[in-house]
Amino acid sequence: MIDGLHIATDEIVITNGALEALNLCLMAVTRPGDTVLIESPTFYAALQSIERMGLRTVEVPSHPRDGIDLNAMEWALERHKPKACWLMTNFQNPLGSLLSDDKKKALVTLLTKHQVPLIEDDVYGELYFGDKRPIPAKAFDTEGLVMHCSSFSKCLAPGYRVGWVATGRYSKVIERLKLTTTLSASVPAQVALAKYLQKGGYDKHLRNLRHTLLVNQIKFIEAIERYFPEGTRLTTPQGGYFLWVKLPDGVNALEIHRMALANGISIAPGPIFSAQRGFTDYIRLNYGHIWDARIEASIATLGAIVKDLIP
Ligand SMILES: Cc1ncc(COP(=O)(O)O)c(C=O)c1O
Repeated sequence: MIDGLHIATDEIVITNGALEALNLCLMAVTRPGDTVLIESPTFYAALQSIERMGLRTVEVPSHPRDGIDLNAMEWALERHKPKACWLMTNFQNPLGSLLSDDKKKALVTLLTKHQVPLIEDDVYGELYFGDKRPIPAKAFDTEGLVMHCSSFSKCLAPGYRVGWVATGRYSKVIERLKLTTTLSASVPAQVALAKYLQKGGYDKHLRNLRHTLLVNQIKFIEAIERYFPEGTRLTTPQGGYFLWVKLPDGVNALEIHRMALANGISIAPGPIFSAQRGFTDYIRLNYGHIWDARIEASIATLGAIVKDLIP
């Protein structure tokens, strides 16, 4: 049982973090020159991988709350004949969006109709604020077309670099790619994690982490409402680490990024999440930091910077 899915152990390949899992999947189903369908905005490492492998992107718009637009996706599938689709179903980075179960099912049905494999990045799925873990799209996969990737990086320990992929019908090719690139994931790290999991403290740890993240999110949103100028908009994600903030019209996110850094504050500007360098008036904030007076002061400073940059 993994992430709410019943997966045979020989379908799982252990990797060096989720990023290696995602890259292996992409290598398994594409050749240079192929087109890959991604959501927009998207996790910037997806853009980097696609570029490095000589692939083309088709960006499909994603709603900040409900995720990828399936009508636009259907059109893109017909028009561009992509060889893979790479996206996040649960608490997307940077949007924080969550696809409903119905939408996940419709997504898998659509991709199955076109026989396009889905590379599902689910690294934040455990970090839900509701009653139960949202299921992955993989749960609706009947033909082995979904490769479900995750890791312990976001929930427990980034430094261990232990991730995995449930490979669907691509087991053989992913196993071969893993063997011929990095051979295996670190065994001592896996043993340490296995011992930790056997002790039974992981569920309690996750409950605490979810609670901390929810409290942080509430504090962040309150502070943004207090310190940011009128015209700022944001959604309230139901899990994960991120707030996707729309700045007042005309405020340049790259400029905000530069001035924030000069004040010792790190934010992610919208354009890094798009191959077209769009989202120039959006920023992503990470509320994973424990709330304290220093964080509040940083948000106040950020709000003042945004105000100054309103044209
Ligand atoms: C959306 C997303 N996917 C994948 C990763 C990579 O995860 P890992 O550290 O397990 O390689 C990250 C890390 O930032 C991420 O934000």
